[in-house]
Amino acid sequence: MVTKVTRSSVEPNDIPAIQTSNLTKLFGSLVAVDGINLEIKKGELFAFLGPNGAGKTTTISMLSCLLKPTSGTATIMGYDINKEPYKIKQIIGVSPQETTLSEHLNSMENLALVGYLHSIEPNKLKAWSKLMLETMGLTDRAKDQVRKLSGGMKRRLSIAMALIHNPQIIFLDEPTLGLDPQARRAVWDYISRLKGDKTILLTTHYMEEADILADRIGIIDEGRIAALGTSLELKADTIETHTMVVYAWNLTQKVIMELRNRYEKIEISNGTMTLSDKKLDFKDIIDRLHAAGTVVRSAYIKEPTLEDAFLKITGKELRT
Ligand SMILES: Nc1ncnc2c1ncn2[C@@H]1O[C@H](COP(=O)(O)OP(=O)(O)O)[C@@H](O)[C@H]1O
Ligand SMILES: [Mg+2]
Repeated sequence: MVTKVTRSSVEPNDIPAIQTSNLTKLFGSLVAVDGINLEIKKGELFAFLGPNGAGKTTTISMLSCLLKPTSGTATIMGYDINKEPYKIKQIIGVSPQETTLSEHLNSMENLALVGYLHSIEPNKLKAWSKLMLETMGLTDRAKDQVRKLSGGMKRRLSIAMALIHNPQIIFLDEPTLGLDPQARRAVWDYISRLKGDKTILLTTHYMEEADILADRIGIIDEGRIAALGTSLELKADTIETHTMVVYAWNLTQKVIMELRNRYEKIEISNGTMTLSDKKLDFKDIIDRLHAAGTVVRSAYIKEPTLEDAFLKITGKELRT
């Protein structure tokens, strides 16, 4: 378990952290972002989950005032991205998809560079840099040149840099892209330290990342939000059929017929019975098997995955 390291943030009145209104971006005739309407609450970790080219980076670029929308707008803590970009830049931090670290400088020096850009006083900068390195688990690598850090450490340093000026809102664009599973898990641990204290908009094409980290997920495909909700809601909304798997001895034809009369689909293979239906009554199934003298060795309801939901919503597999 990791401990939470926080600094206090200024909390103005109660407005959404991020609100978009028909946010749209065209590159020539290509519609990269197609009228996104979204509201993200303060302290929420929201994940944009979608394949390459879905419009995730373009959306983050518009929200962080690096790219002007073709039409529509958005507010960040009430400030309009089209009218108040300077206000917004003070309260957001961005860890871009391609990290922008200076390879020949060490971690402290990289943090100092962004600190100067934000005009942080030198003594505050030193203390905050130390705190951010600690938050991201890099204290013992403070003096190492970035080129000597692993991919996962570089991503964590990039997140530390996004946090240096204590922003209220952070954008993490594909924070674990290309990392091996172990390094990915470490980055997840450090991101989860920030949950609640910061509003986080994270993009990913890793299903598991969105599932584990996000309070809510927006499935984005071809510039549009195809579905929105918690991981559980997305799974529950999209999965119509439930599946139960039973490992049993002494399965008789009689009890199989009895269950076939009650449930839509039953498959038997090597002592394993798989039942599928819109509604499965776990207790009813076990009771009938016991009454028929079947020995149930184990039984479980197969949970739908976010992958099932994604496939159902977009009609596509999400390549990872
Ligand atoms: N600067 C650009 N000029 C032209 N097309 C672009 C530009 N940036 C992105 N695109 C296109 O916009 C679409 C969305 O891209 P992007 O936002 O990078 O997607 P994602 O981050 O979800 O992979 C893609 O089809 C991409 O090729
Ligand atoms: Mg991208």
